[in-house]
Amino acid sequence: MRRLYVLATALFWLLVAAFWAAGRWWPAADETGTALAERSFAPAELARHALPDDCWMAIRGQVYDVSAYLPEHPSRPGVVLPWCGKEATEAYETKNKGRPHSAQADELLARYRIGRLAADRP
Ligand code: HEM
Repeated sequence: MRRLYVLATALFWLLVAAFWAAGRWWPAADETGTALAERSFAPAELARHALPDDCWMAIRGQVYDVSAYLPEHPSRPGVVLPWCGKEATEAYETKNKGRPHSAQADELLARYRIGRLAADRP
């Protein structure tokens, strides 16, 4: 019985230590819940993802990996694909014809965010 008690106590403190260590390791978050250790991509890194099945776009300063969404996009592929690997804010905001995407498209876009675009080096 005593052995069980010792074992249970040891296990308890082991768990406390594990949670403490995990808390230190996990990236900190601000009040909005956004991870502070966010990834930031240089334009050159963005440019390396310019293929239909590896397509990143920068829109309003954020970088999105939209590869999984492209086959679902309602336009002809030729409309969106040229923007893979590029800064595409204007294309996204005008659909190349002066009309903005819907709020629903904005919500969809948010799901594919992977980080922010780093400023160009001088
Ligand atoms: C940046 C390049 C892009 C261009 C040039 C572009 C262009 C277009 C065009 C021409 C249409 C169909 C016609 C129309 O609704 O007027 C369309 C519809 C749509 N696109 Fe895009 N698109 C782009 C990127 C994206 C991305 C990255 C997403 C989401 C992840 C997206 C989501 C949608 C949705 C949901 C629709 C249906 C209509 C709406 O909700 O506005 N598009 N887009």
